[in-house]
Amino acid sequence: MFDQLKAQPQDKILQLIQMFREDGRDGKIDLGVGVYKDATGLTPVMRAVKAAEKKLWEVETTKTYTALAGEPAYNAAMTKMILGYAVSLDRVASVSTPGGTGALRQALELIKLASPEATVWLSAPTWPNHPSIVKYLGMKMAEYRYFDAETRGVDFAGVMADLAKVAPGDVVLLHGCCHNPTGANLDAAQWEQVVALLVTKGAIPLVDLAYQGFGDGLEADAAATRLVAKSFPEVLIAASCSKNFGIYRERTGILIGIGAADGKGVLQGNLNFLNRQNYSFPPDHGARLVTMILEDDALRADWMAELEEVRLSMLGLRKALADALRLATNSDRFDFVADHRGMFSRLGLTEAQVIRLREEHGIYMVGDSRINIAGLNARTVPILAAAIASVV
Ligand code: LMR
Repeated sequence: MFDQLKAQPQDKILQLIQMFREDGRDGKIDLGVGVYKDATGLTPVMRAVKAAEKKLWEVETTKTYTALAGEPAYNAAMTKMILGYAVSLDRVASVSTPGGTGALRQALELIKLASPEATVWLSAPTWPNHPSIVKYLGMKMAEYRYFDAETRGVDFAGVMADLAKVAPGDVVLLHGCCHNPTGANLDAAQWEQVVALLVTKGAIPLVDLAYQGFGDGLEADAAATRLVAKSFPEVLIAASCSKNFGIYRERTGILIGIGAADGKGVLQGNLNFLNRQNYSFPPDHGARLVTMILEDDALRADWMAELEEVRLSMLGLRKALADALRLATNSDRFDFVADHRGMFSRLGLTEAQVIRLREEHGIYMVGDSRINIAGLNARTVPILAAAIASVV
């Protein structure tokens, strides 16, 4: 049987981690996978997470199963953090999932179950795992233009022209904030227009919210998701705690489904069913930590303060890199780096330039020239700027 297997394409982002590890050079710089790193290059356990873990160790008396949908208190706390008061809770169903990817996978499986012929629209470009999962599930897929390679901002005319072709019942995947891989985001007025267009088209939005708190702040980063949530009769939201709680390996996420109040029971039942089919009970440790933090005033305040430190440090690095690139290239062509938000910016370099940066300078970024801003620090910003100037 196994001789029937074909080799699978390597995940380009994960491949970079291995290449970086195997590079023996001292001054190598990792701007690949989307993991936050502090100025010393460490991905710290956040203070509130450490405190919650300590407390959990003291008070936890059992490891027996929780609920198929995950711990109800976790689902409630996350729903509140993401949706605020945007929609009535009698329309909201949810399941805890293994990370944001688990939530996306469950969302797509739910769509396939309910509407196998629906086309899933993805931004061009998008996180490579989006098309990979859609394709793996054998679903129909289409792309809408998103990124303007000239300005490195959003190609808003392209977005609107392509989304005008969406058919009723099609699913449109939207990045709730901090677009991955580009770092270019719709502004509030553009979100309004996209939502108004998609409502008239009868689309079903699937929001991927993996970076809440990394862009403009915890509340501001939820604004677009809340607008979507209250504007459509049916919405799916796949959210991750990997980045904003820094609990990557704990695999903590949530899938929220919003629909008609009288259909909530069936929707919840289907979400539970999908959990049972795919992994039965979702992982609990990370979800429990998140719940403890969100429900405790002191822990929550400390977590929010540290998240804000993380966000502001990335903003500072953006500004520093834009300034350094101005100096190094004697031009304003990279000023967009300061305007982008979130962990990533797509620099607009060619694949050959990306390879040269890796081979000649030991600087690792994804092949489409996406950099993880948090991979930089005050020392490496000018090194990166000089290296970029030498290859462009
Ligand atoms: C990324 O885009 O680098 C992150 O979302 C991590 C991943 O799993 O790809």
